[in-house]
Amino acid sequence: MNIYFQKSFQRGFGTFPLKGDDLRNAIDAAVDAGYRAFDTAQMYGNEAETGAALAACGVARQNLCITTKVHPDNYTPEKFLPSVEASLKALQIDRVDVLLLHWPPVGGDVGPSLRLLQSAKEKGLADAIGVSNYTAKMMREARAILDVLPVTNQIEFHPLLNQQKLLAAATETGIPLSSYASVARGEVFKHSLFAEIGKGYDKSAAQVVLRWILQKGVPLNTMSTKSENIRANFEIMDFTLSSIDMDRIDTLTSTGYRIVKTGLLPWVPEWD
Ligand SMILES: NC(=O)c1ccc[n+]([C@@H]2O[C@H](COP(=O)([O-])OP(=O)(O)OC[C@H]3O[C@@H](n4cnc5c(N)ncnc54)[C@H](OP(=O)(O)O)[C@@H]3O)[C@@H](O)[C@H]2O)c1
Repeated sequence: MNIYFQKSFQRGFGTFPLKGDDLRNAIDAAVDAGYRAFDTAQMYGNEAETGAALAACGVARQNLCITTKVHPDNYTPEKFLPSVEASLKALQIDRVDVLLLHWPPVGGDVGPSLRLLQSAKEKGLADAIGVSNYTAKMMREARAILDVLPVTNQIEFHPLLNQQKLLAAATETGIPLSSYASVARGEVFKHSLFAEIGKGYDKSAAQVVLRWILQKGVPLNTMSTKSENIRANFEIMDFTLSSIDMDRIDTLTSTGYRIVKTGLLPWVPEWD
């Protein structure tokens, strides 16, 4: 089974942009709340602190799912594997559960970095591999190039953005999506619909948003610095949104609110 669809790993805790005490406290609160999947990246500069917090958290390594992501600057034959080895050392583990390419390469030729990613798995540095911020076309290319199926394409996914093309590509390629910016960094709370729907289920606006994402078949990454939000974001398995409420939320995807716009970083592709 795809690792992100295991029940305990469907709700991942993201670590960007946390560092120091904020990171340690957030990871402790997340572990207490029940999170077992954690997401970091070379780019976040917090792998060592994340590794230290997880090593001390009291949960056995085999019960955790740790994801990290390779920085696009390391997509060269000289740098790729050494950078992954450095990530593992920082994380205090000998293999990572999921290794992602953080962004498509500048120029969009995905083949070379995908082959390097696969070599990391072949060397036993990663149990599973995947991508992030890929377009539908790149997902099809990844499917064709790789011998193993990527376990995810981690993308911006929330109810204020229509990602239907990527959902269709996920079905077509067998590469499932997973979310980041799941509450659109707070933008969702400007829309009263979520709180209104939540009243019917005794759930908060955030819980409704996250449940909508899960019911789209998309495992989650969420991040919060507040233990009450961390806990609330995890407590979303005890209700199911009706198809009527799912449809009402779907109408908001026409808002077209996107946080990571083309041009924001050199690697951001032309989105679908
Ligand atoms: N692959 C990529 O390129 C990529 C890009 C961005 C992020 N990510 C990953 O995805 C993770 C999450 O994404 P994100 O942090 O960008 O966006 P996000 O989860 O949409 O937004 C986080 C913000 O939402 C607030 N929030 C969270 N839960 C809340 C709740 N229940 N009620 C009210 N406010 C709430 C938090 O504030 P409080 O602290 O006040 O609760 C925090 O400021 C990151 O940590 C990172 O691991 C990946």
